[in-house]
Amino acid sequence: MKNRRLKAHRNDPCPCGSGLKYKKCCLSTKTLGDADGNKELYFKKYGIRLKEEKDIEGIRKAGRLALSTLELVASQIGPGITTDDINTLVHDFTIRNGATPAPLNYRSFPKSVCVSVNEVICHGIPKNRPLKDGDIVNVDVTPILNGYYADVNKTFFVGTPGPDAQKIVRVAGECLKMGMSAVRPGNRIGDIGWAIQNYAEGQGCSVVREFVGHGVGLEFHEPPQIPHYGRKGEGIVLVPGMVFTIEPMINLGAKDLDILDDNWTAVTQDGSLSAQFEQTILVTDNGFESLTPFDL
Ligand code: MF3
Ligand code: CO
Ligand code: CO
Repeated sequence: MKNRRLKAHRNDPCPCGSGLKYKKCCLSTKTLGDADGNKELYFKKYGIRLKEEKDIEGIRKAGRLALSTLELVASQIGPGITTDDINTLVHDFTIRNGATPAPLNYRSFPKSVCVSVNEVICHGIPKNRPLKDGDIVNVDVTPILNGYYADVNKTFFVGTPGPDAQKIVRVAGECLKMGMSAVRPGNRIGDIGWAIQNYAEGQGCSVVREFVGHGVGLEFHEPPQIPHYGRKGEGIVLVPGMVFTIEPMINLGAKDLDILDDNWTAVTQDGSLSAQFEQTILVTDNGFESLTPFDL
């Protein structure tokens, strides 16, 4: 099933166009269980830094801090609290735990956390807006702890959700679960996107195209990109040591978005609700491990 299109001989130039010999390139990614062989290849070919055990432990620790940050936020969320209050909570808790909030000043982002309410898809800038009963709110936290990044987000209900809110939050959570289930060595990046898109569209929802998951760990955003749509069997082969986010943004209506004049806030063009869940995922020898695990 794998590698059907690659008919090259081992000494031929690799059909992927890398300029390497086939045996040193795509052939070896299929046959080498050898992490060291993949390490050089994945960096040369894709700019992907496969993580070593000490990196993984560092990201795992950052992940634990990120999850406790979300727990703190969850305990405080309710009608009347402003998105700026959430920013203060996240900022202070991160600093108090010896970490730095990665969003602050990242490409001129002005705050320490993204807080995205209702029709806001992602990158909401905290401000003096009180949450109200029935809202949904996504909180996306990324601490840098001892140089390591972990990226995680959840969408919360404020007070009592209506049926639309319940639906989009359920579907977005399921989408992350579906994406994660497609992660194992030998599968490809396109398998992740396909699993997500297939489920979301089957539920009558849509998948945002403009923002994607990403390599993470040593930097905020590293190669590769992880689209939340796609085709089975396409894209880079997953190998142990890859660490990337899966963070599907799912709309109740159409997939199209606008960016507000602040140059950050992404909103659904049709004003429909949008929800998102994100985890930082490690490809292991026989599947995956979430470095920011929570129940979905
Ligand atoms: N945390 C977001 C992500 O999941 C990125 C936010 S960039 C920021 O990739 F500058 F807005 F923080
Ligand atoms: Co991310
Ligand atoms: Co994030």
